[in-house]
Amino acid sequence: MTTIAPSILACDFLNIESELQALKNIPNLWLHLDIMDGHFVPNLTFGHPIVELISKKTTIPLDAHFMVTNPEFFADTMKDLNLFNFTFHFEAVQDPIALVKKCKQYFPSVGISIKPNTPITALDLKLLQCLDLVLVMSVEPGFGGQKFMPTSLGKLKYLNELKTKHQLNLNLEIDGGINLETAKLARDHGATHLVAGSYIFNNDQSLYSEKIESLR
Ligand code: DX5
Ligand code: ZN
Repeated sequence: MTTIAPSILACDFLNIESELQALKNIPNLWLHLDIMDGHFVPNLTFGHPIVELISKKTTIPLDAHFMVTNPEFFADTMKDLNLFNFTFHFEAVQDPIALVKKCKQYFPSVGISIKPNTPITALDLKLLQCLDLVLVMSVEPGFGGQKFMPTSLGKLKYLNELKTKHQLNLNLEIDGGINLETAKLARDHGATHLVAGSYIFNNDQSLYSEKIESLR
């Protein structure tokens, strides 16, 4: 079953507790946390105190997506916050394998994200072999509510073929512009995890479950 990762970037921030409550009994979810530093991307979101509070309020596995210049600092300082998956950007680091290895000591799952203009072939087999997840960005990172870029589908397909060829145990996640139509395309191209913000949260809470199920 496809895992859906609601991105709280699009939720009602003044009522996060009630938003978490509305997601409570839905199966196969990750909670996607977009952490932006106003540096790697122009936008700013939230950091340690908010992540810690969220972590205490939910049992949904936390899927943290770090759009930051210095992911190593966040790995070190968030290691006790019960993140399930730690994803950092390929473009932010010099030695991705070294950081993956470090993160593996702290978090059950480690991912690398790739921006729309970075060729997927930049992720070599050695790197893919030590990852749990690749997060393909289908919009320019930084903001919710943008239009899906179809070039991301070719990246998923390429990764999915490598998965088969080399028997990689790799989750493929896509993030940005996911709706009913693009979710199907992404699943057909090998996505196992779909991040969705506005498609889920721009609705009444009573519809969240239905919206999430529609994406699978
Ligand atoms: C964008 C973020 C996404 C964003 C997705 O930089 O990484 O997770 O919240 O939002 P939607 O689903 O509205 O495109
Ligand atoms: Zn994200």
